Amino acid sequence: MKTTTKIVFVFLSFSCSVALAQKQEAYNAICSGVPWFDDKGNTVSAHGACIVKDGGRYFLFGERHSDTSNAFAGFNCYSSADLYNWKFESIALPVQATGKLGPNRVGERPKVMKCPGTGEYLMYMHVDTTGYTDQFVGYATSKNITGPYGFKGPLLFNGKPVKKWDMGTFQDNDGSGYVLLHGGDIYRLSDDYKSINEQVNRAMERGFESPAIFRKDSLYYFLGSNLTGWERNDNYYFTAASLKGPWTKRGLFCSEGTLTWNSQTTFVLPIAGSKRTTHLFMGDRWSFPYQASAATYVWQPLTVSDTSLSIPTYVEAWRINTATGAASPVTAGKKTIGNTDKQFITYSGNWQQDTLLVSSADEKGAFFTVKFTGSQIGLYGLARPDGGYARIVLQNGKGKTVLSSMVDMYCLYPVSTLTFLSPVLVKDKYTLSLSVAGEHWYWVEKSGRRSGSKGNVVSLDKITISE
Ligand code: GLA
Repeated sequence: MKTTTKIVFVFLSFSCSVALAQKQEAYNAICSGVPWFDDKGNTVSAHGACIVKDGGRYFLFGERHSDTSNAFAGFNCYSSADLYNWKFESIALPVQATGKLGPNRVGERPKVMKCPGTGEYLMYMHVDTTGYTDQFVGYATSKNITGPYGFKGPLLFNGKPVKKWDMGTFQDNDGSGYVLLHGGDIYRLSDDYKSINEQVNRAMERGFESPAIFRKDSLYYFLGSNLTGWERNDNYYFTAASLKGPWTKRGLFCSEGTLTWNSQTTFVLPIAGSKRTTHLFMGDRWSFPYQASAATYVWQPLTVSDTSLSIPTYVEAWRINTATGAASPVTAGKKTIGNTDKQFITYSGNWQQDTLLVSSADEKGAFFTVKFTGSQIGLYGLARPDGGYARIVLQNGKGKTVLSSMVDMYCLYPVSTLTFLSPVLVKDKYTLSLSVAGEHWYWVEKSGRRSGSKGNVVSLDKITISE
């Protein structure tokens, strides 16, 4: 993989809000790369996700993570009417008392489909040990979309488990269900979706993880990543007129070196409206070990035209009209505060303004505070190869902590980007404190290769405030 060092500045400004107990507000855009908060004010934890539209609502299923270990912590289910505001529904599949999805196991990439023949909901997942040495595709069933799902064990093909790791699913227009595996294997499910009838495609590639297929008209698009663990890479795609292939490799769908806009594919959701269909690319920006609080989502509209597929620019915030299917970037303005503005910002510890004109520190405990009057605050930082975690605490005018969060300022290429966005709060005087955690994300693969950050640098480029 070619590593290109570049700086991509994004100057979009926008407005997002969230429903919290004290005030019923709502997100009004999809904002990538920042922690999202659900209807209870908790971080949305649903990675390796999929979305199912059912009864007019969107249901999001994903990995429920902790901030301390990679062990299976269950699969979460959220629901939404608009794809911005997520209501926590359930732990659709909790950690089992014992067995292959019991304590100290791995469960990843849950994918749910409704079986047209039986009306049952089927959930498929990658099951493994924490050392990734016992992988197979498992499945679970439920009469209700939100669960609870009953874990049934391995999905069988000719009586045997499918012993592969990264997986996805695809439901075709005729109701047939398919399971996709890393490398490019495609299996057609039986009529009740509880076993495999046929292998329809054999792997075309080594790697090709996080497989996702969608169909537009009579063409199928097959997306996946290179094999770099939780480090981001330039994902690519194939097209074919049939799931049986032949699949033609078409190359990258984001500019080379952007590492899929700093994410890994998990799913593509077609949003078919009265005017058009927008294809929602869903990607993960992993952050081990703080996967629950600091791993984020990169959800972007795909540009699809014949065999060409792309995310031409990174759209920080955009809207989707689920009735018409139309997508539009958000362009409303906000007040901006530069990182040297002493009227609002007080630094403590060793902060330096570097040649890129951002204020940076890597000393654990260094912090800054921002005092503002308004309802929402956003922070832009320079995410970089030696970026680390920052702890954020937001206090209201009475000194009560209304929010605390952890953000990750790592990216393999330097990029000034939105790293934090508060929910919309009651308009008040607030103080936000951001401190250097002195930690960074990293991961050691089973091959022994280490990926992740090389330092603990935290930075501030600018601040946005909504009155
Ligand atoms: C890849 C896979 C993930 C997970 C990690 C673990 O990123 O796509 O699902 O298994 O590796 O390293």
